[in-house]
Amino acid sequence: MIPAIAAIQEEHRAIAALLSALTHILAGIESGRLQPDFTLLSSMIEYIAEMPDKLHHPKEDRIFALLRGKTREVDAQLDMLEAEHRDTIAATSRLDRALVHYMQGGAPAFASFRDAVRLYIADEWRHLNTEESSILPVARRLFTPEDWQDINADFARNGDPWSGPDNRYASLFKRITNLAPAPVGVGPAAGAD
Ligand SMILES: [Fe+2]
Ligand SMILES: [Fe+2]
Repeated sequence: MIPAIAAIQEEHRAIAALLSALTHILAGIESGRLQPDFTLLSSMIEYIAEMPDKLHHPKEDRIFALLRGKTREVDAQLDMLEAEHRDTIAATSRLDRALVHYMQGGAPAFASFRDAVRLYIADEWRHLNTEESSILPVARRLFTPEDWQDINADFARNGDPWSGPDNRYASLFKRITNLAPAPVGVGPAAGAD
């Protein structure tokens, strides 16, 4: 196992866990099982705005740049993925705005918030899947042990996606876990590689 790839996959697991919890919470609100908790919803949106931007995309952008120097075979995918990284802040502020409209408009505004979240989640799934299925395997094939050594050393300086600065993310994940029971409840997968 290459530590840099493991770090990226672990961050994908944290993002995926959060997106699953968000889906679960929306379904709960829609069915009347849950009351909207706007503080929780805004913390969740803050996480998907902040963690990928600060922790995750810089790692991937470094791998993408090195990969571009070695092959043209994934140029089209890299163009798309890099553009999506640049659009992160705009995409998450669309979610923020949708949440504000929901907070102000109450139940009648739920459907448009739900649709904005669904659209975001669908795009994000496609993005993660492209990285895992089309990009990481090519990096694995083309990067030398020296390439990985540099990248591994660099990535090891970063925090992990479950705890974050000042343990801020840990308390968010704890709240999500309490709210969304297994299999949506989250945490580092036991025995994951
Ligand atoms: Fe990415
Ligand atoms: Fe990613």
